[in-house]
Amino acid sequence: SKTYRIAAIAGDGIGKEVLPEGIRVVEAAAAKFGLSIEFTSFDWASCDYYLQHGQMMPDDWFETLKGFDAIYFGAVGWPDKVPDHISLWGSLIKFRREFDQYVNLRPVRLLPGVPCPLANRKPGDIDFFVVRENTEGEYSAVGGRVFEGTEREFVLQEAVFTRHGVDRILKFAFELANSRPRKKLTAATKSNGISISMPYWDERVVEMAKAYPGVAWDKQHIDILSARFVMQPDRFDVVVASNLFGDILSDLGPACTGTMGLAASANLNPERRFPSLFEPVHGSAPDIYGKLIANPIAMIWSGAMMLDFLGDGDASFKAAHDAIMAAIETVLVEGPRTPDVGGTANTTEVGKAVAQAL
Ligand code: NAD
Ligand code: IPM
Ligand code: MN
Repeated sequence: SKTYRIAAIAGDGIGKEVLPEGIRVVEAAAAKFGLSIEFTSFDWASCDYYLQHGQMMPDDWFETLKGFDAIYFGAVGWPDKVPDHISLWGSLIKFRREFDQYVNLRPVRLLPGVPCPLANRKPGDIDFFVVRENTEGEYSAVGGRVFEGTEREFVLQEAVFTRHGVDRILKFAFELANSRPRKKLTAATKSNGISISMPYWDERVVEMAKAYPGVAWDKQHIDILSARFVMQPDRFDVVVASNLFGDILSDLGPACTGTMGLAASANLNPERRFPSLFEPVHGSAPDIYGKLIANPIAMIWSGAMMLDFLGDGDASFKAAHDAIMAAIETVLVEGPRTPDVGGTANTTEVGKAVAQAL
C-alpha cells in the first residue's frame, strides 16, 4: 500500500513542544492500524531561520513541499524578534494561498472531562464546525500607504471577495451541513454595516442555498453571532464565515469549550491538487514557551484530522482517526492533564498518555 509522506514543520515557540507529541500519536495510530506514514522535518518557517537568512523560508520551499501528501505544522511567530506580519505572510499565509488551501475547517466541541466556562453545558451540547474562508476576504495584500510621513498620510487595505472564492467556500460548508444529522448552516455576515462586500456575500449564500433544500440555514450579523456563541452555542451546526470573521470565531469557539489548547484545524485544498496543512488554531504562545506546559491535544487532534483527510474514506484511516479521538477523550477524563484543563502534567506526559491510550 501507499506510503504517505508528511512534511513536519514545528515553527516557533510551543510549536516546537507540541509537534513531537502530535507525531508520536500519529505514528502510534499508524502502527496500530497498519498505515504507512513517513515524516520529514524542516527547521525553516521559523523566526530563528529568518534571523539567519533574512527570509522565513528558502526560495525553493514550494518545490520542496508540493510533492508531500500533507504538511503537519506547529505554529509561527515570535513578535519580539520578527514583526508578526512579516513572519506570518512569509510562511503560514503563503502556504494557505499558494497551495490554495481555501477551506479552514475548525471543529468546536465540548469534550468530556474539560471544565466548561459556560454554565450548565455538558458534552454533546456544543458540537459544531467553523468553516473559514482561507485565501481572500479581509486578508488581502491590496492597498498601501500614501503620502507617508506627511500629515496627509493614509493607508488603504482592500478586502477581496471573488465569486469563485465565495462560492467554493459556501459550497464546502453546505455540503458539510448536508452530511450532518442536524443539517443546519449559519452564515456570518455584516451586511448592515459593510455595505458592498457583505451584501454580495449574502446574495451568494441565497444562491448556493437553492442547491441544498435539505439544509436549514440562516444568516447572522457577526456581532450577535459572537454573542450567541456564548449564550446559545447549542444552536450551531456549521458556521461559514469570511477569513477575518472566521479567524475570530475560531478562537471564540474554543474559549467557550474550555481552552485554546484543544482547538484543532485543517487547512484544506479539497481537490487535492496541493498538500493540505494541519495545525492547531493557537499560536506560538511566547508566554508559556519553555515551561513544557502547553497542551498538545490541539496538535494531536489536528493529526487525527490529517489521517481522516489523507484516507479519503478509507476504513483503516477512519479507524485511526476515531481511535485518536477516543484516546484524547480517555486522557481528558482520566488524566494526565495540562494546566489549561485543570491538571499539573506536562506536554510530554500528555502526549505519551494519548499514545498509550490508543
Ligand atoms: P497564542 O494562541 O499563541 O496564545 C494565546 C494564549 O493561549 C496564550 O495565553 C497562550 O499561553 C495560550 N495557549 C495557546 N496555545 C496553548 C496550548 N496549546 N496550551 C495551553 N495554552 C495555550 O496567541 P498570541 O499570543 O496572540 O500569538 C503569539 C504568536 O503566535 C504571535 O506571533 C502570533 O502572530 C502567532 N500566531 C500564530 C498562529 C499560527 O501559526 N497558526 C496562530 C495564532 C497566533
Ligand atoms: C490563525 C492565526 C493566523 C490567522 C495568523 C497567525 C496570521 O490567527 O491561524 O487563526 O489570522 O489566520
Ligand atoms: Mn487566529
